[in-house]
Amino acid sequence: MRVLEIGTGTGYSTAVFCSRLGEENVTSIEYDQDVAARAQGNLARLGLLPTLVTGDGLRGHGEGAPYDRVIATCGVRTVPSAWIEQTRPGGIILATVGGWLGASGLARLTVHDDGTASGPLLSGQVGFMLARPHLPPPLGLLPDLTAGKEREARTGADALHDWTTRFVVQSAAPGAQRLTLTRAGRQEHVLIDVESGSWAALFGEDGRWTVRQDGGAALWDAVEEQLGRWHSAGAPALDEFTVSVTPDGQTYRW
Ligand SMILES: C[S@@+](CC[C@H](N)C(=O)[O-])C[C@H]1O[C@@H](n2cnc3c(N)ncnc32)[C@H](O)[C@@H]1O
Repeated sequence: MRVLEIGTGTGYSTAVFCSRLGEENVTSIEYDQDVAARAQGNLARLGLLPTLVTGDGLRGHGEGAPYDRVIATCGVRTVPSAWIEQTRPGGIILATVGGWLGASGLARLTVHDDGTASGPLLSGQVGFMLARPHLPPPLGLLPDLTAGKEREARTGADALHDWTTRFVVQSAAPGAQRLTLTRAGRQEHVLIDVESGSWAALFGEDGRWTVRQDGGAALWDAVEEQLGRWHSAGAPALDEFTVSVTPDGQTYRW
């Protein structure tokens, strides 16, 4: 099999692929030049000379395509179309899909003839550092968190402690980042979507949660609707989710 790896890192997994498949079948991409140089040295010391590329692995490496397998050892928010285009139909992409709320799942996608890819999330809490271009933008100046409409929340911010719940919340508010701050003597949990300007601030008191939100989309409304659908389906575990990636985007089903 011909394998494309994203995230060479130390070169450890690249070495494993080489010993299993032969160095001529292994291509690995590393974003960070210093890290790439160190990996090259590590691999050379083992006598291994796979194709090593320094650059943004989200673009893949078209020169070596088609690949039978693409494996990412850095996380992505959405699976890049280049990986699908560079994998042969029937080939597999193994990648950790996650986001800015810090929950992720390991997706095993099969590439189809029509240029789409789909497959399950595998079991376990799997996390990798996010690929560089998928890191969140700086929060910048915070919006005026006293503005906005306030209501009682059906779901409190404490729900975010649970990995799967956080994954579902993240899928409802994919552009949101989370911070906690102390205001007026109480702790507030804030979700902010820098791009849209939407935000939601939650605080708990006497076992009840209040949410205040503003800035366009009502972030916490979207979160509670998505959680409602997930709970109505029996709150399935992550390994009951499927992911599909088409030119229109990436969707999760359970
Ligand atoms: C968890 S480490 C990889 C571990 C590696 N497979 C090993 O065996 O040591 C993640 C690596 O992905 C790299 N990385 C981050 N964003 C990337 C991108 N867009 N393209 C390629 N590599 C990237 C990081 O610099 C880091 O070295």
